Amino acid sequence: MDIPWWRDAVVYEIYVRSFADASGDGVGDLAGVREHLPYLAELGVDAIWLTPFYPSPMADGGYDVADYRGVDPLFGTLDDFESLVTDAHRLGLKVLVDVVPNHSSSEHPWFQAALRGEHRDRYIFRAEPNNWQSTFSGPAWTKLPDGQYYLHLFAPGQPDFNWRNPEIHREFLDILRFWLDRGVDGFRIDVAMGLYKAKGLPDIQDQSFKSVSPIWGQPEVHEVYRSWRKLLDGYPGERMAVGEVWTDSSEDLALYVRPDELQQSFNFAWLQAPWSSTAFKKVIDDTLAAVPFATWVLSNHDVVRHRTRYDTADPGTGLMRAKAALLTMLALPGSAYLYQGEELGLPEVKDLPPEARQDPVFIQSKGELVGRDGCRVPLPWSADGASYGFSPDGVAPWLPQPATFAALSAATQAGDPGSTLTFYRRALACRRELVGSLPYTLEWLDSPEGALFFTRGSLICALNCGTEPVRLPSHGGVLLPSGPLDGDLLPPDTAVWLRTSS
Ligand code: BGC
Repeated sequence: MDIPWWRDAVVYEIYVRSFADASGDGVGDLAGVREHLPYLAELGVDAIWLTPFYPSPMADGGYDVADYRGVDPLFGTLDDFESLVTDAHRLGLKVLVDVVPNHSSSEHPWFQAALRGEHRDRYIFRAEPNNWQSTFSGPAWTKLPDGQYYLHLFAPGQPDFNWRNPEIHREFLDILRFWLDRGVDGFRIDVAMGLYKAKGLPDIQDQSFKSVSPIWGQPEVHEVYRSWRKLLDGYPGERMAVGEVWTDSSEDLALYVRPDELQQSFNFAWLQAPWSSTAFKKVIDDTLAAVPFATWVLSNHDVVRHRTRYDTADPGTGLMRAKAALLTMLALPGSAYLYQGEELGLPEVKDLPPEARQDPVFIQSKGELVGRDGCRVPLPWSADGASYGFSPDGVAPWLPQPATFAALSAATQAGDPGSTLTFYRRALACRRELVGSLPYTLEWLDSPEGALFFTRGSLICALNCGTEPVRLPSHGGVLLPSGPLDGDLLPPDTAVWLRTSS
């Protein structure tokens, strides 16, 4: 069987507004991404995923789309996009773009028409709201001057589409075609378990991301992905889609990746697990048992960076654990999604001044919830300059960067054999060399308490989540450790790849 490119792909998430600013307005853009494609090729990833760059009033950093077939001037032009895709392909990188089907921007012409009383059945209007809350806090309904309410599961600037209206289906198939015709290799589907709401919009007790609730995971959504899959399969070159599915069950996750639906769905179980070999083993077993093609994620633009998550649990361990987790994740069968800046070991920026924060989570909760700006601080490319090379010199970036970013910049780390960036490059190069020869299964080896040992063909991966060093399993040579080994001992918070002895 031919292995599809995405099965083992390492995909690098680019939060476009925070990656690199070529235009000099303090906001990252497509030209900035294009300039740094060689960096990504050298890093050794297989694909990039671009967060929304479409025209948007930016009520939610672009996840409020006003025109699904364009580029916001803040990010460039359609020509910039096409040049980016051409260059990426030339460098052997696939390109995924974000599609946001659960809601549009309130500035979208369809919602503007709805406000005038035209075609309100494209959105969800009611005379009386139910008790649903916005994911960003506060009510999920906003009242219009004419007394009607509209539903927005996120910000008021993100009205939810009514997927019971066939016009929405036709429109999104057309939007997908638009980008497929421009050469994209796939889509990341925002809030993929949303779209349909239970008929009658009943009140709910629990708003959290449960597998099935009146808000999430309605069975009808799978028909949408069946039709999208047909469309993708009609294009040459293994076009694919990965769904953002927040759920508490791996069986539910599996529903989205049935053979006639999406190729992948994000598996957020590891990202939510504590630093524990037992917890990680369960996540791995549950995932591999449930889905045919696994994905692994440690960080993204919606969660606290994993270095800081681990550090908060046990101060001083963050970077060691982040590297050990990465090495373990890269040894697993399936595809890995990295988030920009993790290869530099960037921490969450916790002390952003309130007036700088822009996340609607912070704004809507009136500062009660800190929000996600801390993982979205613009990347440091060089050790000096007003924005550490993010913007042309003298330009202030859209979020302030801490002084600690100087030592973490890509230029500082590039030539340093002991840096996090060098470690990521080595790990990705080693994985690329091995991955084609490894079986898509793993076998557990006996391991001491607190540790996790497994093999895949000729590779052994050992991770020590405990507090004492453990003896390495019997092996035929060290391939790559995430930190210093102590002879034949694997120190705490460290992982290693080993060759099997046979
Ligand atoms: C995206 C978020 C966004 C939300 C609403 C998601 O899950 O990843 O960044 O705020 O959808 O579009």
